[in-house]
Amino acid sequence: MIVTVTLNAAIDKTLAVPNFRLGRRHRAVEQTAMAGGKGVNVARALKALGQPVIATGVAGGPTGTLITEALTGEGILNDFLRIREESRTSTAVIDPTSGEQTEINEYGPLVSESELERFVEKLLYLARGATVCVFSGSLPRGVDPGLYGRLIEELKRLGVSTILDSEGEPLIVGTRKSPGLVSPNELEAEGLVGREFADEEDRLAGIAEMVELGAGEAIMTLPDGCLAMLADGGEKRVYRATLDPLEPVAAVGSGDAFLAGFVAARYSGGGNEDCLRFAVACGAESTQHFGAGVVDLREVERLRTEVGVEQLTLSALGS
Ligand SMILES: Nc1ncnc2c1ncn2[C@@H]1O[C@H](COP(=O)(O)OP(=O)(O)OP(=O)(O)O)[C@@H](O)[C@H]1O
Ligand SMILES: [Mg+2]
Repeated sequence: MIVTVTLNAAIDKTLAVPNFRLGRRHRAVEQTAMAGGKGVNVARALKALGQPVIATGVAGGPTGTLITEALTGEGILNDFLRIREESRTSTAVIDPTSGEQTEINEYGPLVSESELERFVEKLLYLARGATVCVFSGSLPRGVDPGLYGRLIEELKRLGVSTILDSEGEPLIVGTRKSPGLVSPNELEAEGLVGREFADEEDRLAGIAEMVELGAGEAIMTLPDGCLAMLADGGEKRVYRATLDPLEPVAAVGSGDAFLAGFVAARYSGGGNEDCLRFAVACGAESTQHFGAGVVDLREVERLRTEVGVEQLTLSALGS
């Protein structure tokens, strides 16, 4: 079983508004609302890919009820801790004429100390039936940025593989606790290593730095694929996967679909190159749908043949 953790779950509302302009009144031509938050998106994609997954996290108020009911309605197993404050709604406006996307995310609820401890208990319980646990997204306001790090340590002790896809302090502190894999996008990776990447050589060095900082393996997603440092036997190998970008319908959650693809392929025993090919195809395919984490497995199978993967030698790292 794969467990996904979403501590900032939301109802993700997507509105299609042609010719969206600031300061004007608009009418949406299309609208969807679905359970969201990064870990929820990962769970949705994992389910679509046929993997056994349970989504956990915290959810509160009527919006929290909507989140868990929507997940159940989609057939996604879920076990969220109920909290007192209201879960958030995130709104994305997509302009089909320009392809531009505007996101407005509400503040998430405050989670009390005792609620957090009850969540940790729940996660440790669920972890007993899990092989992989994916921690995705930001932490609720006021929560110690070391929480992911603490949970990573606890789960590793239970023999569960840990994956961290976050940003800022929670990613920095969490990476030091040696999660099995970190998978930031380029901007988040820059935040993690503490500098900007000027070119491909810089990004290559960055991927190695993420591993030096503590991650067992590291993937940096890029608009046209990813860079990865993955274990192969006792060795660490560096890969570059590429796919020509598609015209997106909605790019939100492509990183989540990517990660689900990687985990699904790994869980099925795939080799590194195949896992990356599958992951990039999932990220790309998800851009062809409105909802975050929505992927069509048949299209993924078609796209994966178009993904290029090359192994880079360590000398290319300039070391
Ligand atoms: N327009 C696109 N066409 C094809 N592939 C795309 C496109 N946009 C993103 N992808 C793929 O999706 C993967 C993840 O992309 P990205 O780095 O944008 O993730 P992200 O910023 O974490 O996204 P999010 O946080 O919204 O889930 C990458 O491997 C990338 O190749
Ligand atoms: Mg992401």
